[in-house]
Amino acid sequence: MPGNKCVLVTGACGFIGSNFVKMADQLVPGARIVCLDKLTYAGNLENLAGFEDGDNFRFVKGDICDDVLVNKLFGEEAIDTVIHFAAESHVDRSIDGPAEFVRTNIMGTFNLLEAARKSWLDGKRDPATCCFVHVSTDEVYGSLGDTGYFTETTPYDPRSPYSASKASSDHLVNAYFHTYGLPAIITNCSNNYGPYQFPEKLIPLVTLNALDGKDLPVYGDGMNVRDWLFVEDHCTAISECLKKGVNGEGYNIGGNNERTNIEIVEKICDLVDELAPPLPSGESRRSLITFVTDRPGHDKRYAIDATKTRTEIGWEPQMDFGPGMKLTVKWYLDNSGWVANVRDGSYKEYYEKMYGGR
Ligand SMILES: NC(=O)c1ccc[n+]([C@@H]2O[C@H](COP(=O)([O-])OP(=O)(O)OC[C@H]3O[C@@H](n4cnc5c(N)ncnc54)[C@H](O)[C@@H]3O)[C@@H](O)[C@H]2O)c1
Repeated sequence: MPGNKCVLVTGACGFIGSNFVKMADQLVPGARIVCLDKLTYAGNLENLAGFEDGDNFRFVKGDICDDVLVNKLFGEEAIDTVIHFAAESHVDRSIDGPAEFVRTNIMGTFNLLEAARKSWLDGKRDPATCCFVHVSTDEVYGSLGDTGYFTETTPYDPRSPYSASKASSDHLVNAYFHTYGLPAIITNCSNNYGPYQFPEKLIPLVTLNALDGKDLPVYGDGMNVRDWLFVEDHCTAISECLKKGVNGEGYNIGGNNERTNIEIVEKICDLVDELAPPLPSGESRRSLITFVTDRPGHDKRYAIDATKTRTEIGWEPQMDFGPGMKLTVKWYLDNSGWVANVRDGSYKEYYEKMYGGR
């Protein structure tokens, strides 16, 4: 079991990374948390408001592809654990511009693996006290028909530049385990929902457009299926895999909670109708739904079989879908300041205020 004395969290200012850092006291108690984030459009330092550099926390603005910086960080800090969230993560953007996905998701992961290899396998450290947790996605497995589930032995079959870049990074992590003995595990999780997700993704996007009375575009016939998991349950699964997982193994994480996209959108419409003032027309928000041309290569169905993680790790999701969705929609409605800041990018002023001159 790793020492967890100093945990490098990459992508800590994104959706899942920031939720993980907020839960770090319970997930990795007593550890020093070192956050590395480039603060791309998706990374928002405000997501970590309240955290200040000190004995247990440090934030570093930087690129995981910057080998000088990453090696320096491994030299300055006694990092024994990496939780690697940093990635370009939006499928639509990967179709418009795949290069950044190849750079960050593949080259960035390679760079981190190299730094960990140099630091952990140099003979001065006991690798048994270290672990590289690579946070990946179920999208590496491709698309399912109406039946069946992804297990850890499902062959990889990525369909988008995003999933191909994640699959590639998974292979690199496996290669570093088998070739060099780098202590590493991979987690492949289904779609997450919850607070602090950048409002280009389905649930916050639909919530905010529904609030504003804007059109709610749904791809194709809306019958694509995703398996939704509350973000805090994903974070708990990662820390449990860190504690109990076996190096070289992969662990599927999912909520056993399959929903069609149209079901998600209708659920959000009903919640916004319940929680926000009515539309001026008096109509239900469901009237805003429009069906648009499907995106290329849109995977039909993802569904995770998380039996291995449930039985070998002993993890179970805690949040039910109904209360989780209500909490999530309410969070976006209640946090209009956060929404305004991430939409217009003005959080960069916050960064200058907090970390200007560094
Ligand atoms: N969101 C999901 O539903 C989901 C599901 C399964 C797996 N994942 C995986 O979990 C991880 C986190 O996803 P997320 O939804 O929080 O993503 P996100 O897009 O919200 O956050 C990504 C973070 O990484 C940072 N980043 C991007 N490029 C970087 C670089 N070159 N150097 C340093 N930092 C960089 C961004 O600034 C941002 O803070 C990703 O690896 C993703 O593939 C996400």
